[in-house]
Order: sequence, then C-alpha cells, then structure tokens
Amino acid sequence: MTTDTLFRETGALLAEFGIALSDGDLPVGSPIDGSRIAAVQRHDRADLDRMTAAAERAFIAWRSVPPPRRGELVRLFAEELRHHKQALGRLVSIEAGKILEEGQGEVQEMIDICDFAVGLSRQLYGRVVASERPGHRMLETWHPLGPVGIITAFNFPVAVWSWNAAIALVCGDTLLWKPSDKTPLCALACNALFARAIDRFGGASEDLRRGLSQVAIGGPELGRALAADRRVPLVSATGSTRMGGTVAPVVAQRLGRTILELGGNNGMIVTQSADLDLAVRAILFAAVGTAGQRCTSLRRLFVHDSIADTLLARLQRAYAQVRIGDPLEPGTLVGPLIGEHAFTAMQQALAEARAEGAEVFGGERVLAERWPQAYYVRPALALMPAQNGLVQRETFAPILYVMRYRDLADAIATHNAVPQGLASSIFTTDLREAELFTAAEGSDCGIVNVNIGPSGAEIGGAFGGEKETGGGREAGSDSWKAYMRRMTTTINYSRDLPLSQGIRFAVDA
Ligand code: UN1
Repeated sequence: MTTDTLFRETGALLAEFGIALSDGDLPVGSPIDGSRIAAVQRHDRADLDRMTAAAERAFIAWRSVPPPRRGELVRLFAEELRHHKQALGRLVSIEAGKILEEGQGEVQEMIDICDFAVGLSRQLYGRVVASERPGHRMLETWHPLGPVGIITAFNFPVAVWSWNAAIALVCGDTLLWKPSDKTPLCALACNALFARAIDRFGGASEDLRRGLSQVAIGGPELGRALAADRRVPLVSATGSTRMGGTVAPVVAQRLGRTILELGGNNGMIVTQSADLDLAVRAILFAAVGTAGQRCTSLRRLFVHDSIADTLLARLQRAYAQVRIGDPLEPGTLVGPLIGEHAFTAMQQALAEARAEGAEVFGGERVLAERWPQAYYVRPALALMPAQNGLVQRETFAPILYVMRYRDLADAIATHNAVPQGLASSIFTTDLREAELFTAAEGSDCGIVNVNIGPSGAEIGGAFGGEKETGGGREAGSDSWKAYMRRMTTTINYSRDLPLSQGIRFAVDA
C-alpha cells in the first residue's frame, strides 16, 4: 500500500457519499500510514453562530412534526446506512485505524440505534398521575428540547453521534455535531447520508434541510463555544475526562444540561470458578480490540491467586498470536494507535509500570520500518504488584494491568477504588459471586457484566458510567428522557377550586 492509495480511496469513498472536497485548512491523516488523506475547512465561531441560529429555526418546524413521522426520517436514514455500510465502515477504518470488522460493526451499531429510535418514536410515553384533588387530572408529558450539541471522540467516529442523533431526532430536537478534529470525514459522510434521507423524506422546508443536522469542524475552542451557547439546552459530550472537565463547567455556568460519557478504567475479576476458555476470549477482545482505544476497553484484570498462573500462560499465548498490522487487511486484529501522542503516552505508562516493579510483556512499537509515520504496538500485559497511581489513570492504549487477589470482597473494593466508573465484568460460574458483583455492594460502574467483557455494549441498554465517567446515559432504555423537557400538567374539570395540601385561601367576594 502506498500513500497515494489511501488518498485516492478516501476520495472515491467520499464521492460515493456525494462529497467533493476542495482544499481546506485542516489536514486529515490516516493512522494506517500517517499519510494525508484529505483536507477540510475548519469552522470558526461566526460559522458556529450561524449554524446555531439555523438549528434554532429548524427546531421551530421540527418540534411540531408528529413523533412517528420524525421516526420515518430516522428509518430512511437507517436505509441509507444499510446501503452504504461497507463504504462508511471502510472510511471509519481509514480515518480512525480500526480493523474492517470493527468499522463495519460501528455502522451496524448506527443501524441498530436507528431501528430502536423508530420504535421509540411511537413510545414517547408520559404518565397519568393520581391527583389528590377531586375533579382534577394530573399528567406528565414529554416535549422536544431544542438544538442539541453533540461532541464526539475519534475512537467511535460515527456510532456515538448516532446514539445521540437518532434519539434526539425522534424526540424533536435538532443536531449540532462537533466531531473530533481527527475524524471530520466520517462526520461529513454521516451528514451527507442524512441529507439523502431528508431528500427522500419529502416535504422538508428549507429551514429543516439547513438546520436539522449540521457538522461544525474544529478543535476544543469550538466545543467550548458550543458549550457556552444558551441556545443549546443540552450538550452531550463523549471523550476524555479532561475534555468533560472543560465542557461541563461552561454548560453549568449557564445552567444548561449535559450528558457526559467520559473516561473509563474498566476492570474484570476472574474468579476461581471461571470458565477460562470464555475468559481468555473475552479478555482478548476487550483489552486488545480497537488497539485498546475504547472507553470500555479492559484495562485492569484481577485474577484469583489459584488460577493466575494458568490464566496468564494462556493469555500470553493468545497475545502472541494476535495479528498486528494494516486494519484494512482481513485477518488483522490490531490496527494502529491514533497517533504519536498516544504512542508516547503508552510508552510513558509502561516505563512507569516497570519503575514500580511491574513485569511487562509486549508494548513495543512494531512495523516502524514499513510505516515510519504510523504507530503500531504490540499490546502489553503488565503484572502489577499493586493498584498504584498509574493503574488508577486511563491510558488510551492496549495496556492490561494484571493483579492477583485472594478474597473477592477485597478484589471488589480494589476494583472500585479508582476515579472512573464506566464498565466492569466478572467471570464466574458461582451464582453467589455473580450476584455479589451486581449487587449494591458490588461493582460501582454503570455497566456491570457477568461472563462478558466490559466492552461491546448493545444499544438497547443505557450506556454510560459513574464518578469521573460523568454520570450521563446515552443510547437505549429511557435515555431518551434526557433529550426532552418534562411537563407536569394539572387540569381542573370540576366546578370548584380545591387547593393542594388542603390549604384554605379565600375571601368573601
Ligand atoms: C466508546 O468507546 O466511546 O461498548 C464507546 C462499547 C461500544 C461503545 C464504546 N459499544 O465498546
């Protein structure tokens, strides 16, 4: 593969989506070989201001479209995605460096959330509340909220937007998407497919066409401007805890709403009774898949002392067989890191681990002669003496810290003793252990799995986590409620005016 090949293939993929890029001031590279694959035009604050005004205008029209009709647009979008799954998945691989299988998986996740949202568009249920007053009816209704700001990270350049977008659309909101400046092409491609769905939807006004879904390309300064804008009642941000720490106070200052899905430091406990065949496969996918660059990637492994040697030997054998290389080649399991910065952070973490007495296997750079501008690494296993400060941090790279334990309650306590609270899992065939892990005194995470790794969540559940992960929930279950405003209404159909709490308040008039 030469540099030119990726450049030309990217151009052809973009053409399939109807995108013709002229030159722009933001170069876009591929982590596969570090080459430039395109350049796009950055937006400035004035552009964002215009987009927000357009999103507001579109909202005025969109909020009164009946929800099932809004669902029809999402259904049409899912059709576009089904039709272009191959091409969009490939673009994800080229721009984010994921293996083809995972790039396609991301588009499937988009299709799944669209299907979910279409069903939801007929189920935005409110409730009737028992009123304490005679002749009164009390009810709760959900209404559209307004333009929703969506900030996404490079590692899930299409799926995470769709979790927000599909739900927000059926809820009657309009979309302002600020993707990672490392993956703007994926965002433009999604929006181009969405524009086709609008064309087929029929009858969309000019305001709707322009303002229903827009992409703002830029760096953190654009994200901050979006966060500061009072016209955007909800900002949903997915990314690092550091990013969330800058966005959240800005939104909070204007008392806006956020959905935050930030860093994870996900653990797995493998107990004495675990099915090790399953555990090894799950660990491999969760720790090594996506080159350790999922927010749900497995980073901490707690193994019962009695099975630790056996499991470690099997893991090392499995790690040795993992094919690292071009993510576009079938059979590759680990593609590149997103860039040099990620590589440096990984090497620093491994140096720190060694300095603290860890035994480290793997972690070195590979394929540097073939791709001097790209960063491929062998996934690392670090046998840690304890869960020190390093292990408490999220390093966005394929490093699995392994620790031994003797007592399950101690292991759970250590598992919970980190600042993050996204995903967790236990491998056990003992009912008591499984129940304990999922009980109130068990894992403190948002996602708690049994005999499944911490990553690879389905869209049907609410996705997100506690503590520094930010507390937000996206995707399935009742996450939709965050994208709407709740209205409590009391209707008096009697000929009297009883006050609540039995209060008497009257004059003789
Ligand atoms: C993310 O890494 O930001 O659970 C999202 C998973 C995916 C989503 C991860 N469905 O691994």
